[in-house]
Amino acid sequence: MSKISYLPIEWLCNRVKILDQTRLPQEEVYLESSSYQDVASAIKELKIRGAPAIGVAAAYAIALGALEIKTNSTKDFREKLKKITKTIAATRPTARNLFQAIERMNKVAEAGKEVERIKKALVKEAVRIHRAEAEATEKLSRLGAGLIQDGFTILTHCNTGPLATTGYGTALGVIIRASEQGKKVKVFADETRPLLQGARLTVWELQKANIPVTLITDSMAGYFLNRGEIDCVIVGADRIAANGDTANKIGTYSVAVLAKENKVPFYVAAPTTTIDPSLKTGSEIPIEQRKAEEVTHIRGVCIAPDCDVANPAFDVTPHKYITAIITERGIIRKPYGVGIKGIT
Ligand code: MRU
Repeated sequence: MSKISYLPIEWLCNRVKILDQTRLPQEEVYLESSSYQDVASAIKELKIRGAPAIGVAAAYAIALGALEIKTNSTKDFREKLKKITKTIAATRPTARNLFQAIERMNKVAEAGKEVERIKKALVKEAVRIHRAEAEATEKLSRLGAGLIQDGFTILTHCNTGPLATTGYGTALGVIIRASEQGKKVKVFADETRPLLQGARLTVWELQKANIPVTLITDSMAGYFLNRGEIDCVIVGADRIAANGDTANKIGTYSVAVLAKENKVPFYVAAPTTTIDPSLKTGSEIPIEQRKAEEVTHIRGVCIAPDCDVANPAFDVTPHKYITAIITERGIIRKPYGVGIKGIT
């Protein structure tokens, strides 16, 4: 039986309801809106986040935007919709799922012949995208759980549970599924600076799932890997290139190198909607640069003098560090180019 009892995003007949992840774990606050601009802001501000969840929110935002358009001319409608999709596309550049959802919504808008029908079709497509992401994470979690043995201690980075996916989770989904199968697993969660998705969200989700979790700072990962206390690392992904190079939350690359150095398997779990076969290698993945305050401040408190700051939100782990990529269509191993071509 699934232990998941909360929803990061819900479609409520012409409105969306979003669990504001910036307020967790202290407060469970829900936002409701029928405006696509509000949803775009929620994506930008990480109120809803994680690659699959960003894709779902983007689809609902486009549906909301479409419902607001007042015209009977399909040409006019499509032009107005283009502006809306441009706003959504500009929210976060790295997650492939965002662009995958936009492409699916655009196809529906192009195919329709009459404005009211296109609007209905767009809402239906957004709900379908949501369902497909949820089902994909459920499947990949089941497949990935086969890699987890009873008694394993697993290290993870950032947050990849139901909050990040609107479904079961990717890396965290695998862990939750293994636990549901009766395997006794323990998790080490990197806090994930600068925005602490690991400390705030992963620990919250694992506690809800009754899975033992130990919170560590990002710089402690090497210590525990070197002491032989970690059986495997599992992380999610924001975009995977055709050769298996994977962009994920900043700090993932360091963990991958440390895992290889210490001969610990390093798994990436992601739905196929995160794979971008149009990019040959990870060097082509656009990396989001976020504002300095996220580094100089922790939850509103300034921790640094006035200084230059860099804040790339993601890094790229070269495929040579990855033991396997877990998707809903199968577990891919090296050579990734062949495996990825086979499932996309
Ligand atoms: O900036 P975020 O919080 O959206 O980053 C999220 C991650 O990096 C996740 O690991 C990734 O999206 C995979 S989520 C299933």
